[in-house]
Amino acid sequence: FASVEVDVSSLMPGTSVVLQWRGKPVVVRHRTRQEMEDGEAASLAVLKDPIARNANLPADAPATDANRTIPGQKALLVMVQVCTHLGCIPLGQDGDFGGWLCPCHGSQYDSAGRIRKGPAPENMAVPVFQFVSDTRIRIG
Ligand code: FES
Repeated sequence: FASVEVDVSSLMPGTSVVLQWRGKPVVVRHRTRQEMEDGEAASLAVLKDPIARNANLPADAPATDANRTIPGQKALLVMVQVCTHLGCIPLGQDGDFGGWLCPCHGSQYDSAGRIRKGPAPENMAVPVFQFVSDTRIRIG
């Protein structure tokens, strides 16, 4: 399918749902308050990849927490859950940065899906998406 839709109205803080989009897993994460605070606290200087990698923004947009999440809905993170090293599937809410840990070679991503440690070169990708109603997101 070119696009998929998901209703996020029942997605509670601290939970995620994973969809398949173009053969790849896309995670929609309702972040906890702590995850948001951790994401905002990380300065660009500590990021391995300072680019947002958000298909909804200009290609050179910086990887701030806000640029990784949804405008006005910073609790929600939509992201292709594929490691930018060699394409394994990182495991959610694991590792030292409150985000994702790749089981293949140990790359660690933070609560905004930004690479913080390990061999992966880039933040996990934020795909094109939009709200099609108050609670439904269309990806792609
Ligand atoms: Fe994820 Fe290598 S594929 S660290």
